[in-house]
Amino acid sequence: MQIAIDGPAGSGKSTIAKLVAHKLGYIYCDTGAMYRTVTVMALRLGIDLGDEAAIMDQLKQLDIRFVPSADGQKVLMNGTDVTLAIRQPETTNNVSQVSALPKVREDLVQRQRDIAAQNDIVMDGRDIGTTVLPNAEVKVFMIASVEARAIRRHKENVEKGIMTPIAKLEEEIAERDRKDSTRAVSPLRKAEDAVEIDSTKMTIDEEVAEIIALVPKHS
Ligand code: C5P
Repeated sequence: MQIAIDGPAGSGKSTIAKLVAHKLGYIYCDTGAMYRTVTVMALRLGIDLGDEAAIMDQLKQLDIRFVPSADGQKVLMNGTDVTLAIRQPETTNNVSQVSALPKVREDLVQRQRDIAAQNDIVMDGRDIGTTVLPNAEVKVFMIASVEARAIRRHKENVEKGIMTPIAKLEEEIAERDRKDSTRAVSPLRKAEDAVEIDSTKMTIDEEVAEIIALVPKHS
């Protein structure tokens, strides 16, 4: 069983995807964390983010691993914990440049398909329903107003000690949406057979219930 959840930055995908996976006993795969990890790798190595060949040289040897932790999942980059680093503003504001590189996408999409081949899975991202898992049994496209998404992101950030003001977050989110939706390869877009859920005025429980109701046997 494959559940694909796509949507723009801060639409609440990962919170909902984690809960749905937990309720159903499926694996959860956060594909955004993979693009973020590649971005951290390039920034740490001082590689120009437009230099696809140099990034690919390093990516070929890069191990990205999700491991369970007390508060969810840790992300390991060649064994180093990058769970916090991938959420820092420097990473967030550069990830769209890295994720637009076709060879980076090809490499990560293959890794994502390999993970999905072995498990019942909930996978979230931008191109899961359109490209990574086009045959997913359940496809969801989550949207929310930019304002609601900035408020949500602000709350998460404050818990991590990141203090970017809401107005600045609104700008950053709108800019990331623009870049993710207009790139040449696998832009963010709703799959034709995806169910759209607008989370602006829904509670988390309502969203989780709506998705679980789409899963055969659980409806
Ligand atoms: O989901 P999250 O906001 O963590 O994703 C970070 C970035 O990774 C997105 O803004 C996008 O540029 C990229 N991404 C992508 N395709 C995916 C998941 C994320 O291009 N499947």
